[in-house]
Amino acid sequence: MTTTIFDFVGSNQGEWKVTSMTTLKGEVLAPITHLQKVASTLEQSENGIWTLKGVISNLRYTEKEDKEKLVAIQEDLGRASATFAAFIPIRKSEAWWNLAQDERRKIMENKSQHTHTGMKYLPAIARKLFHSRDIGQPFDFLTYFEYAPTDANAFEELLYALRTTEEWTYIDREVEIRLIK
Ligand code: HEM
Repeated sequence: MTTTIFDFVGSNQGEWKVTSMTTLKGEVLAPITHLQKVASTLEQSENGIWTLKGVISNLRYTEKEDKEKLVAIQEDLGRASATFAAFIPIRKSEAWWNLAQDERRKIMENKSQHTHTGMKYLPAIARKLFHSRDIGQPFDFLTYFEYAPTDANAFEELLYALRTTEEWTYIDREVEIRLIK
């Protein structure tokens, strides 16, 4: 069976070395020097300074046309050239979760153009979204990206574009951890 549950273990050892940790909103995460992503289970929890668990899930808002486009152009994690990474755990506010599904989609896709903006950065940026809210974790989403050093500026541009959208006004906790292999 394919693993769908992962632990992001922050500690003093691991595959990825932390180059910076920035709290953009909400409570900070304890400082770490390394991060490792490991296949896990719901019951199991890795040691470390902290561990954040996430599940690969189905798409919630993406419609057929965009889904097909994404599948056609996105790259997998683990490319040899992708020696830079970013791990960005995110929590959205109660106001967001109190909205109906169609209202959330309208904000994400029609008003904020999340997928439309993001797609411009594929396949350079490899991305993976992990869901955490339904398994009682402190964040709702664990977002993870890998890219080559030559695409570092493009990644900054993407972050800037997303963070100035209406969608981002619903984010009440966001910590950005930059990594190098
Ligand atoms: C690399 C380009 C990107 C693309 C193509 C992209 C695409 C997408 C898509 C299609 C979804 C919707 C999934 C669904 O239907 O459920 C999504 C969700 C999400 N993305 Fe991105 N994204 C990108 C970059 C980013 C970045 C840089 C961040 C964070 C800084 C981010 C944070 C999120 C979050 C938190 C969600 C879940 C939102 C929710 O369900 O409320 N994405 N993304």
